[in-house]
Amino acid sequence: MPPPAPLDTAREMTVHRNQQGSSTTMSLPPPQFAESAFDEPAIPRYLEQAYWWAYMHPGAVHLFERDWLVNAILFGNYARLRDASLDELGATVQGKTLQVACVYGNLTTRLQRRLAPEAALDVVDILPIQLCNLAKKLPKDKRVRLLQADSCSLPCPEAFYDQVLLFFLLHEQPQEVRSATLAEAMRVIRPGGRIVIVDYHRPAIWHPVRPLMRFVFRQLEPFAAELWTQDIVEFLPADLRPRSVHKERFFGSLYQKLVLIR
Ligand SMILES: C[S@@+](CC[C@H](N)C(=O)[O-])C[C@H]1O[C@@H](n2cnc3c(N)ncnc32)[C@H](O)[C@@H]1O
Repeated sequence: MPPPAPLDTAREMTVHRNQQGSSTTMSLPPPQFAESAFDEPAIPRYLEQAYWWAYMHPGAVHLFERDWLVNAILFGNYARLRDASLDELGATVQGKTLQVACVYGNLTTRLQRRLAPEAALDVVDILPIQLCNLAKKLPKDKRVRLLQADSCSLPCPEAFYDQVLLFFLLHEQPQEVRSATLAEAMRVIRPGGRIVIVDYHRPAIWHPVRPLMRFVFRQLEPFAAELWTQDIVEFLPADLRPRSVHKERFFGSLYQKLVLIR
C-alpha cells in the first residue's frame, strides 16, 4: 500500500462520513486529490458541449433520475443490462471495486447491496452534481466512497482494484478520451482482475431501432456511433491488451457486455 496522500475532504464524499470504522472494514489508502483549486480536475469539453443537458444542468438530474425513463431510453433493457454487469462482479461482491462514472437509476445502490462485509466500492465522476445525486440515492455505508476525478487520470495506484465497472460511459467519450479511460482501467486493475463494460454495440442489420438510434446519435450522442464500427478493445493502446476478452450481445446486438481480464 502506498503512503497516505493529502486529502481534500471537500472533494471526497464518503457515504459513511459519520460512521465509526470497524475492524472488518478493508482499509483503502486515501485517493490523491488536488491540493489547490488550480489542480481541480477540469470538466472535459465534450461534456460541456455535448452532454450539458444530460448531466451538468441542474434540471438534468431532476429530469433523468427516474427509473422508468432510464429503462425507456434502453428500450426496456435496463434491468437486464444492470443485472448482467452486477452478476459479472458476483452475487456477493468481494474485494475492491471501482465504478467509473455515476449513472442514473439503481445500478450503484444494487451494487452496494451486494458488497461483502469487508469489500469496498469507489465511484468516481468528474461532476460534483452527479456525485451529490448518487450520495442521495445511497444509504450511509462505510465501504463506499464517492470521488471526484477524471476517468483519464484516476487518483489511485496501479493494480489497486480487483474489478472495474464502466456502464454506458465509453460511448459518450471522444475516441482519445475513451482510449485514455480504458488505459486507466487497465492500469488500476490488478493482474487477473476484471473490467466489466456495458455499452452500445452495432445492432443487427434488421434491427427495427437501427434508424432511430442513428438519428439519436447524430442529434445527441456525437461519439456513440464509433462503437458501431469498432470493437471496444481496439480503443485500448496496443501495449495494454487484456489477457482475455469475453463479449455478450443483448437486444439484437444493440448492447454489449465485455469482460476483460488483465
Ligand atoms: C456513465 S455516463 C452515462 C450513463 C447513462 N447514460 C446513465 O446515466 O444512466 C454519465 C456519467 O459519466 C460522467 N463522465 C463523463 N466523462 C467523464 C470523465 N472523463 N471522467 C469521469 N466521469 C465522467 C458524467 O459526469 C456522468 O455522470
